[in-house]
Amino acid sequence: MNLNQLAKTANEMVADDRGLLAADESTGTIGKRLDSVGAENTEDNRRDYRELLFRAEGLGKNISGAILYDETLRQSAADGASLVSVLQGQGIIPGIKVDTGAKDLPGSEGEKITEGLDGLPARVEEYVGLGARFAKWRAVITIGGHNPSRHCIHTNAHALGRYAKICQEGGLVPIVEPEVLMDGNHDLERCDRVTTLTLNTVFDELYAQDVALEGIILKPNMVISGSGCKTQAGIDEVAERSVQCLKRCVPAAVPGIMFLSGGQSEEDATAHLNAMNAKFAPAPWKLSYSYGRALQQSCLKAWQGDAGNVSAAQAVLLERAQANSAACAGSYAKAA
Ligand code: 13P
Repeated sequence: MNLNQLAKTANEMVADDRGLLAADESTGTIGKRLDSVGAENTEDNRRDYRELLFRAEGLGKNISGAILYDETLRQSAADGASLVSVLQGQGIIPGIKVDTGAKDLPGSEGEKITEGLDGLPARVEEYVGLGARFAKWRAVITIGGHNPSRHCIHTNAHALGRYAKICQEGGLVPIVEPEVLMDGNHDLERCDRVTTLTLNTVFDELYAQDVALEGIILKPNMVISGSGCKTQAGIDEVAERSVQCLKRCVPAAVPGIMFLSGGQSEEDATAHLNAMNAKFAPAPWKLSYSYGRALQQSCLKAWQGDAGNVSAAQAVLLERAQANSAACAGSYAKAA
């Protein structure tokens, strides 16, 4: 394992107030997104949409890396250039989702375990050959009733540790993503407790499995009210509780924390990150973003599957990326 190289890449991912574009939706998930704008889920449409994203001129100014799905890492743009080379041309590091999805967890009541460890070392080797420099694995923790169970948190943390170690051995920086979902009626307090337990369990496993913290990126949820909770915590409260929870759980050796948006609106995801950096920094790690929906929602709507709308859609993507990079600097101001 070349820890210097891993640490260099991880630091590059969070340098200069840049963040990640999560464009690693599986074929099923991107199908739902395409369907929402009336576009068919064909290989060409998936390619055209991702090409639109990656070719947005100047995207690399705000975006340091893009997380791709297996198909995209192998795909070529309409003019024959590989999408990997399109990203590299913009100064954007290609990354790859290596988990194979969250499946039903045996012995639980409606909980999930993320799969994808079988054969992972060989896949990592292939992905490195295709140009990937970092990887992502998402574990899903659901709040509701008596859930999450210790069993669910522990099995997912163990799998994250195994994934992270395999990636580091193979030369990819692992993005460790334990997502406590915002679905449900729970309040901020409960999200905080569950997130704290989850992060402590994850870092315990990373330690037990000898993962080098200087060569990972953490991608957590924010500490936020459940989407169905009657009392919604405000922007500053979410920011303060998120930073407090992370300071208690995440060692300073980790170079960067890059949040997922998890179903927050574009504006909320940006405002929360901005408040963290503007009011609750300094923190021991960089606080940045790795957004999927919160970077793509308006862009997808502007596109509508129509080639005539590509420039307009790219302008919307660039605007969101700029706003989130301003939030990394704590200098985001909502346009009037
Ligand atoms: P969202 O920002 O839409 O939650 O997606 C980020 C991601 O990569 C989820 O795994």
